[in-house]
Amino acid sequence: MNRPIATDNSSATLMARVHTLIGDSLRNVERIFQEELASRHPFVEEVLGHLAGYRGKRMRPMLVLLTAQACGGVEHAHCVLAAAIEMIHTATLVHDDVLDEATTRRHVATVNSRWSNETSVLLGDYMFTHAFHLTSSLGDAQACRAIGRATNIVCEGEMSQVAERGNLDLSEDQYFEIIEGKTAELCAVACELGARHAGSSESVCAALDGYGRDLGIAFQIADDLLDVLGTERQTGKTLGSDLQKQKLTLPIIYLLSQAAPELGARVRELLARPDENTRGELLPILESSGAIEYAKARAVAYTVAARQKLVCLPESPARQIMEDMAEFVALRSA
Ligand code: IPE
Ligand code: IPE
Ligand code: MG
Ligand code: MG
Repeated sequence: MNRPIATDNSSATLMARVHTLIGDSLRNVERIFQEELASRHPFVEEVLGHLAGYRGKRMRPMLVLLTAQACGGVEHAHCVLAAAIEMIHTATLVHDDVLDEATTRRHVATVNSRWSNETSVLLGDYMFTHAFHLTSSLGDAQACRAIGRATNIVCEGEMSQVAERGNLDLSEDQYFEIIEGKTAELCAVACELGARHAGSSESVCAALDGYGRDLGIAFQIADDLLDVLGTERQTGKTLGSDLQKQKLTLPIIYLLSQAAPELGARVRELLARPDENTRGELLPILESSGAIEYAKARAVAYTVAARQKLVCLPESPARQIMEDMAEFVALRSA
């Protein structure tokens, strides 16, 4: 079973609507995903077996398929593209868990904690190369370039985040550039390709790219809020790693920009020497300074912008779900 985007009833209802509309295609994506990655090598098989119980929300495949459906209909190529994009996403998570020294992901042990960093690096590589191998099966150079380009940008985003680790003067603009690269770009290409392969005009493809981008930015702001506010039980992943790894996120950046000198100095001290108490010590300060509210409001503003990008599409059940999904990502709890 795919895990819902969030754990409350409204998200279960939203996911039920998604499965009613595009459930067959999502199952097709799963089949393509498994078939592409299958290996007769026993160790590769073993690690991939672990991935079978390691399934995420499948948001990016949903974006490809919903966009396709809203733009005229889902074709086989959409399912292939959706599987390839999910493979790239999973590869980045497997690598990201090495960077963050995370022990839990998707409610189970991370590959690095169950095996080793070496296995994670190689499994991530295996998934990246299979994603490109799979995409090339479409014989569509433009799709290959689009997916290659988006992945380049995702990797740059992750690299610039590593480069900025420990920079307590990271600006909001720098933060947005990082999250647009590491997260929003893949959501953007998912929607853009969904539209393009349904025969949409350039202007519709560009609008849908914009929808995915804004939704992806809101999604990452919400994720960064969950890193300080969420529980591992709800999210199924190791939290607090942004603070532990000194990756500044929106609420912290806002807090530092607003705090009076004395409080600012105290916050900087906490950030400079993170330990298991840092999250608990910062939380009340983040709450009382309005930093949490500020970050939530920014996320909501991006979801409003995302929904506005959909006005170029005729009304349809798929478009309605895309509107509701945008609203949801900023409020999600998992
Ligand atoms: C996690 O993405 C990484 C971020 C971009 C925040 P998801 O929350 O979509 O992860 P899964 O695929 O559901 O596990
Ligand atoms: C990185 O962001 C996600 C990628 C795009 C690879 P995070 O580090 O916040 O993702 P999580 O919280 O580990 O899922
Ligand atoms: Mg991480
Ligand atoms: Mg995170």
